[in-house]
Amino acid sequence: MEEPLPTQQRRRFLQMILGALGVALAALFGWPIFRFLLPPGGDDGGGAISLPRDIVAVGKAHFFDFQGRPAVLIAPAAGEYLALSAVCTHLGCIVKWVADQDEFLCPCHGGRFAPDGRVLGGPPPKALESYAVTVDGDQLLVSQKRVV
Ligand code: FES
Repeated sequence: MEEPLPTQQRRRFLQMILGALGVALAALFGWPIFRFLLPPGGDDGGGAISLPRDIVAVGKAHFFDFQGRPAVLIAPAAGEYLALSAVCTHLGCIVKWVADQDEFLCPCHGGRFAPDGRVLGGPPPKALESYAVTVDGDQLLVSQKRVV
């Protein structure tokens, strides 16, 4: 039996290194794509979250994370609460609450939304996604709206 030549050994070693590098790069770039394709919130069946009722004052907004995505809670009037996705429906920028104009403004292309999420102007094609808010004592339960 012949011993492999040093050149063949070197070639095999380089092939192994390149193969390992290829696997590492595929994992590095493939993981974010895989995470992007997963539905938000996993399998928690709506994943209601609880927020203290006093976390938002009338006319103010409180931004929070809902199922891995930015969301916002506002209180248009005493005892009245609305929860919306804070992701603009145009190209996905995060909207800001402009209290003195009583509306959401998207800083990217000037999209404007009413406190209930309706489009008031600009390029967004549809309203902000809204969530269900239930008052439970001094807590607010925010959950996905059930589609019937
Ligand atoms: S991303 Fe919001 S208006 Fe374009």
